[in-house]
Amino acid sequence: MYQIYPRSFRDSDGDGVGDLRGVRAQLSYLSWLGVDALWLSPIFPSPMRDFGYDVADFVGVDAVFGSLEDFDDLVGAAHEVGLRVVLDWVPNHTSIDHPWFVEARRSRSSEHRDWYLWRDGVAGGPPNNWVRAWSDQPAWTWDDETDQYYLHCFLPSQPDLNWENVRVRGAMHQTLRFWLDRGVDGIRMDVVHLLGKELTVDDAEELRMLSHVPLNDVASTHGYLREIRAVLDDYDGDRVSIGEVYLLDPDRVADYYGDGDELHLSFNFAPLHIGWRADAWRDVIVRTQAALEPRDAWPTWVLSNHDTPRIATRLHGDEQRVRSAMVLLLSLRGTPFLFAGEELGLEDAVIPEARVVDPGGRDGCRAPIPWTIALDHGWPGVPWLPFAEYAGRRSVEAQRDDGDSMLSLTRRVIELRRTRTALRHGTMENVQSDGRVLSFDRMVSGERLRVTVNFSREEITGLQSDDHVLLSSRRHRGGLLAAGEAVICEVKS
Ligand code: NOJ
Repeated sequence: MYQIYPRSFRDSDGDGVGDLRGVRAQLSYLSWLGVDALWLSPIFPSPMRDFGYDVADFVGVDAVFGSLEDFDDLVGAAHEVGLRVVLDWVPNHTSIDHPWFVEARRSRSSEHRDWYLWRDGVAGGPPNNWVRAWSDQPAWTWDDETDQYYLHCFLPSQPDLNWENVRVRGAMHQTLRFWLDRGVDGIRMDVVHLLGKELTVDDAEELRMLSHVPLNDVASTHGYLREIRAVLDDYDGDRVSIGEVYLLDPDRVADYYGDGDELHLSFNFAPLHIGWRADAWRDVIVRTQAALEPRDAWPTWVLSNHDTPRIATRLHGDEQRVRSAMVLLLSLRGTPFLFAGEELGLEDAVIPEARVVDPGGRDGCRAPIPWTIALDHGWPGVPWLPFAEYAGRRSVEAQRDDGDSMLSLTRRVIELRRTRTALRHGTMENVQSDGRVLSFDRMVSGERLRVTVNFSREEITGLQSDDHVLLSSRRHRGGLLAAGEAVICEVKS
């Protein structure tokens, strides 16, 4: 699954912001790369205070990205080349500009009032001690017009919807049907673990100043997810639901698969927070398997996304490590999510203060994709964010015909995954680490592939000598595992 952040992908009209026609123009690139599906970060009309995650209309396309017709064209063209399209649905909150909220805040008796979470203050302050994301400020904003607070787990311009209200649920299901009817193959659901809420005052000292986002995990959410799943199941073919469950414990994340009746897939963000250490990866892999296998739930893996520094930046640009991280991502059991630009080894851009636009400090990883070597890197206008360093060298044009490039490596691993059932569907066994090297086997009957990743900065001898090397992250020298090398071997048993 390939994540496209549309603003930063490809600009077709020169306004400096990527758009749907731009995505369409790159479908041949995505087919060539070999991905199966693309996930588009939000494209709906939005005042863009959170760059699309603040939705003002769930059933339209923001003019900066194009029109509904462009969207239909994109889906049709993607399907023609065998690519699935997944939309980013943002069910937890709307923009303050959404007509529901505009009406809700007009008066306490507004029709949409209880579509949001309004509360009186407590002791002259907010209703509870929840803190909003990216700040130490309350998750509540006082509304002068109606003398109540409303809840927003993110920006004050992103009021949370009240999912307890059956009319909210019905209206949101309708928005989902709108896109499913247009042929989308699934949805990525933004912070879906936040839907249910227990708005108690929690005075625990350790919760103070901590955003509520990674803490909320309440029973009612599961009922809402079952209803959403029923909407998807009404449709022919497979329509996938992928939930952003921002809880870092794989056991808690596993609950969101339900009994096969909630999410099809959930993000598993633990790897974003463990650094590049063989033991830590072994532990996350083992814990993830232990949590998901009893439920027959299929894992997902991710190295970065539009909210987090890119893997190449987290690995301080260490090329060998970046390359082996890609081999690891694409050889684990589960669906890998590749954030556009990772296949180029792109690092975050350094953003001068005057160009900072994101209230959550995430501009760096959202730098535009460099398509060409030339100074404009294939962007007809000045892009909304600066390019990352070495953009020319990392561009698609510079890497495409170079068999040793990161791009070629990524393509080769994807190809291997496509042709080797063990990598696609096989079990994952013997997950081991000696502190320097991580290894595991991917197996189907009659085939055993061993993935070995050298996390250390030393060459390691005595490995792989009898095995048939199918792929290496660098030029492989038999019997040795070079510093930072990742290898996929066929093991003869
Ligand atoms: C998670 C999204 O990935 C992030 O970009 C966004 O800011 C928040 N949810 C709020 O919608």
